[in-house]
Amino acid sequence: MTQDKCLVDIHTHVYLPEYLELLRQREKVPRVLPPLEEGEDERLIILPDEDKGESTKNGRPVGPDYYDVREKLAFMDKHDIDISVISLANPWIDFLPPTEETFDLARRLNVSMEKMCQDPITHGRLYGMGTLPLSSVEGSIAEVERIAALPRMRGVIMGTFGCGKGLDDPALEPLYQAIAKHNLVIFLHPHYGVNLPASGNTDAGHSLALALGFPFETTYAIARLILSGIFDRVPDLKILLAHSGGTLPFLAGRIDSCVAHDPAVASKLNHPPSYYLKKLYYDAVIYHETGVKATAAFVDPSQMMFGTDHPFFPPLETKDARWMSVDSNLSAISNAGLDSSTVEGILGKNALRIFNLELPSK
Ligand code: URA
Ligand code: ZN
Repeated sequence: MTQDKCLVDIHTHVYLPEYLELLRQREKVPRVLPPLEEGEDERLIILPDEDKGESTKNGRPVGPDYYDVREKLAFMDKHDIDISVISLANPWIDFLPPTEETFDLARRLNVSMEKMCQDPITHGRLYGMGTLPLSSVEGSIAEVERIAALPRMRGVIMGTFGCGKGLDDPALEPLYQAIAKHNLVIFLHPHYGVNLPASGNTDAGHSLALALGFPFETTYAIARLILSGIFDRVPDLKILLAHSGGTLPFLAGRIDSCVAHDPAVASKLNHPPSYYLKKLYYDAVIYHETGVKATAAFVDPSQMMFGTDHPFFPPLETKDARWMSVDSNLSAISNAGLDSSTVEGILGKNALRIFNLELPSK
């Protein structure tokens, strides 16, 4: 395999055993419930109010795809994925208090992630993103120092909650500085959705929350962070946005215009918001060529990278089939009218460069 032809998945999750154990012990969301029937999988309930929705109250089955490294490798083989950069899935440990117990769990999760990536059966095909005990900035900085020393870790996954006040909370700035100092990438991933009026009064199950709530959440959180002027103060901070930046490539002009017409806001920034937005990395997990085209027209496509969101969105019927969710993302990239070297970049080469990954020998 050559650099030009490799396929790298930078948006792919795992629920580590230590994390599942924590969720099994909990009595409220996020939690893992026992199987509905004997012999079936346990059930994962993680989204806000998921236990109250008619079609979602029993969660989703959580089988070996969610935690077993052999299933990750089998999924990669099925779709010809050479390397995966794996991250813990939402909601990470955002909901835990700032205690020694939480710091210890973060340490154990990161060691466990590193161990999974170093497992000889992976033949060097896995890299990882660390998890932070975000309810404490000091605890998170200490964990960043440890993650930076783990050979296969390349970044940290973060939600939009910060330590309770969003990503533009000034208290987080020393953490951003520590992350930038170690050249780690923040993988910014949604979980909480947006609090739209009457958003609970629908029988749309997870579909609207995942399709719309997730990307709107990312859009709003990163726009707020940019308006705080963080990139003028920490210019080396590297952020990868999930789901092609939510709706940012489409709405950047509107954000620029609204800020330009509000001198009190504009004067806090050295540049218009899209200047900073164009420095970020974007995954290509958007399922349609229109989204890929919009993202590639907005940022330099050398900042875009393929992802799958495995183990979410599995095939509903035949377990052995290729995953529709993966194939829609692959076709979206191939059919976006980009030249072949740009496509090769999005599929793998950009990730090798951005995350400093080595192609496995085998
Ligand atoms: N559903 C989730 O809860 N998380 C994802 O990343 C994708 C789907
Ligand atoms: Zn995801």
